[in-house]
Amino acid sequence: MPRPLLIDTDPGCDDALAIWLAFASPEVTIRGISTICGNTALPQITENACRICELAGRIDIPIYPGCSQPMLQTLDTAEVVHGADGLADLRWPPVSMRPQAMHAVDWIVDSVMSAPAGDLTLCALGPLTNLALAIVKERRIVARFRELVIMGGSFFAGGNSSQVPVSESNIANDPHAARIVFESGANITLAPLDLTHRNLATPERINAIRGRGHVADIAADIMTFYSRYDVEKMGLPGGPIHDPCTIAWLIAPTLFSTRRIDVEVETMSTSSLGLTIGDWWGATGKKPNVTVLHNLDSDGFYSLLADRLALL
Ligand code: BDR
Ligand code: CA
Repeated sequence: MPRPLLIDTDPGCDDALAIWLAFASPEVTIRGISTICGNTALPQITENACRICELAGRIDIPIYPGCSQPMLQTLDTAEVVHGADGLADLRWPPVSMRPQAMHAVDWIVDSVMSAPAGDLTLCALGPLTNLALAIVKERRIVARFRELVIMGGSFFAGGNSSQVPVSESNIANDPHAARIVFESGANITLAPLDLTHRNLATPERINAIRGRGHVADIAADIMTFYSRYDVEKMGLPGGPIHDPCTIAWLIAPTLFSTRRIDVEVETMSTSSLGLTIGDWWGATGKKPNVTVLHNLDSDGFYSLLADRLALL
């Protein structure tokens, strides 16, 4: 039985790859997509989500627009990384698909409350505002999720937020929401920068994706555009492909090693707002609340990505 999945996302170049990887994977079935401001402003994010579905021929996927600002923090968008349109500035044709009228927070609550307990998994690929507000609105959803798989946080890898350089941008963009989610008691699996910075889209890996179909070619163009920022800015040999790690975890968990630790989110300090603090050695004696994806077989990941994108 494919695992039913909700995706909450701020597309975003790597978000697009994550959604396509999920579309191409029989191990999961996407019930819908909710959007959250992050990589750019919400209207563009929602349009991008529609475009990503349309490009893969999945106009059946309902898209629910979510929050247009973080709870307290000022949104720090990332057009410098993802392009002025948040999706690699590839001169896209106009999109015809339209989002649903229902708000993302209501959709998350309704979906989880109407599904059997323990049935639904949610992948969070952007700031956690929608998810936190859903928890605030209906606390019972926490125990009914099968798993929350979140891309966010950083422990030893440094940060990538331009507002708070030590923090990862999804968490830095709404640290208060992240704190609500991490303290909720939900079954959380986390893909932090420590993992994703070991998962680089080098030119060789991008070339192995190109030529394997319409969506694979677009994915390769997006990866080429997206990688240039981290190659130039961080001197990495390729761009870190963050968000698809969450989907890869669900469909090919043997690619990953994991570690259970306690994770807290800094919400008081201005200089380290949104920092994820991991108790790696059990120093506090607190019960671990997060399964951290610690390392991955990156060659295995890229071979899976190439094979699956070729199916679309
Ligand atoms: C995260 O921030 C966004 O720019 C990416 O889409 C990813 O979700 C990486 O820090
Ligand atoms: Ca994202």
